[in-house]
Amino acid sequence: MSGSLPGVIVDDPHWWRQAVVYQVYPRSFSDSDGDGLGDVQGIISRIPYLRELGVDAVWLCPFYPSALADGGYDVDDYRNVDPRLGSLDDFDEMVGALHEAGLKIFVDLVPNHSSDRHEWFRAALAADPGSSERDRYIFRDGLGDSGELPPNDWPSHFAPSAWTRTTKADGSPGQWYLHLFAPEQPDFNWDNDEVNNDFLFTLRFWSDRGVDGFRVDVAHGLKKDLSEPYKPVPSIGVMEDLPTDGSHPLFDRDEVHEVYRAWRSVFNEYSPPRVAVAEAGVLAERRAQYATADELGQAFNFDLLQTRWDAQAFRETITRCLDVAEGSSSSSTWTLSNHDVVRHASRYGLPDGTDLEAWLLSGGTHPAVDIEQGARRARAAAMLLLALPGSVYLYQGEELGLLEVADLPAEALQDPIWLRDNGARKGRDGCRIPLPWNSELPSLGFTIGTPHLPIPAWFSNYAVDAQDGVEGSTLELYRAALRTRRQLQSTETLTWHEHPDDVVWFSRDNGWNSFTNFGTEPVVRPAGAELLCSVPLHTGDVPGESTVWFRG
Ligand code: BGC
Repeated sequence: MSGSLPGVIVDDPHWWRQAVVYQVYPRSFSDSDGDGLGDVQGIISRIPYLRELGVDAVWLCPFYPSALADGGYDVDDYRNVDPRLGSLDDFDEMVGALHEAGLKIFVDLVPNHSSDRHEWFRAALAADPGSSERDRYIFRDGLGDSGELPPNDWPSHFAPSAWTRTTKADGSPGQWYLHLFAPEQPDFNWDNDEVNNDFLFTLRFWSDRGVDGFRVDVAHGLKKDLSEPYKPVPSIGVMEDLPTDGSHPLFDRDEVHEVYRAWRSVFNEYSPPRVAVAEAGVLAERRAQYATADELGQAFNFDLLQTRWDAQAFRETITRCLDVAEGSSSSSTWTLSNHDVVRHASRYGLPDGTDLEAWLLSGGTHPAVDIEQGARRARAAAMLLLALPGSVYLYQGEELGLLEVADLPAEALQDPIWLRDNGARKGRDGCRIPLPWNSELPSLGFTIGTPHLPIPAWFSNYAVDAQDGVEGSTLELYRAALRTRRQLQSTETLTWHEHPDDVVWFSRDNGWNSFTNFGTEPVVRPAGAELLCSVPLHTGDVPGESTVWFRG
């Protein structure tokens, strides 16, 4: 296999603007050596699959050395590969093979926090308060007579408090350090030059190895207002609670943009310039700034992922996202699933407004998922997304129609959300189950060993070999949709068309129409040659809960 796919101009600096990016969660993708964890050679072995699927790029979730306190988002060493996943040589081989297949690669960069095993954090613990080693992180004295109380009441995403107390070499308690996530994920001090410079070094390290882009984790969290008296933080992770003037002490502060302007100058040292996408959990009006051409260039939005199954709601969300993207001269991103959320084939099978945390805690039984409805809507939504101008981020396994595994037993759970929240929330393991490659093989072809998360037997119905070449399968639908998109993709414009029914209908400037019927009854389709339908083998009208593409 050699050469690039038709339509991909290899050195086009704008290649990312309408790319389809496939998210690989490496430890659950494909295991080559039988240790139960997916690895780099596993990814290499599946490049033909990715090429046949027809995506333009791969985004690799963290593959760095890590104790996996948070699925790899606790990084021990930013410039290495977890030995259980491979070596830097394997990584280079993978980049070469992806490029050879015409695919670009994004790596996940985690700048807000390292792991507590990072050499800098170990050095900080070994050093004295006030030392330069401690200044790379955020250490503070505690309150109370002997510092026994945390410096303030800031909450963390995963643990009740954002502060953990250290223990001195002699066993006595010491200072506290800040972690917006698990205690194993101490936050860096981004006012420290060494931290800034080290990340510039890391960006060059991977860019020199041929990495094309970076997904920037918690991009809105780096800069903090630690001045005293500390400002109140009533909630964490609730986007709607964030002020729009940059005044939150922990998130979306205006100073964070200085960091990304410095990163941009590194990106622009390369040809084509390296690209980046911000994971910035901020309100729409603040998102554009992260995505400007002198910063990261693009920002995720999870707006469609959170939009209920309703034509009007979809139309409004899409319009808003396109406006935000235009505000930064970037292209919009679209996504329905990722490694942090319940898979959309399950979500769409649940009644509107279902409390997903409660549903997960019920083991996925209350309420029951309407699997047919979930599959229908998921296929329709995927086609709608793939017709939009901008880039689409697909999450591994959605092309197989995978459902959430909601009934994982407690002893199998790994997510710090479950472990730290005393079982109040089940966490994200159910969307991170290893992929089913072959319905006949043990562990469905993911590994010859024991998979790090259990794979349910019913996953065999969704396995790649069970869908490959099968007309009407979700895998074949994605392949056909990506092929068609590649042929028809043109400028980033969209024209809305009015329709009296429960329909979202738009066209692109070359006559490519996407028509989604959100209702349950068939709707008559406007004239034009049909290209693809999310419901196999239908005739005539547009079936309920389906998308049709046609040339009009
Ligand atoms: C990642 C999560 C991770 C968190 C902390 C998120 O945005 O997507 O998986 O737990 O950052 O790094």
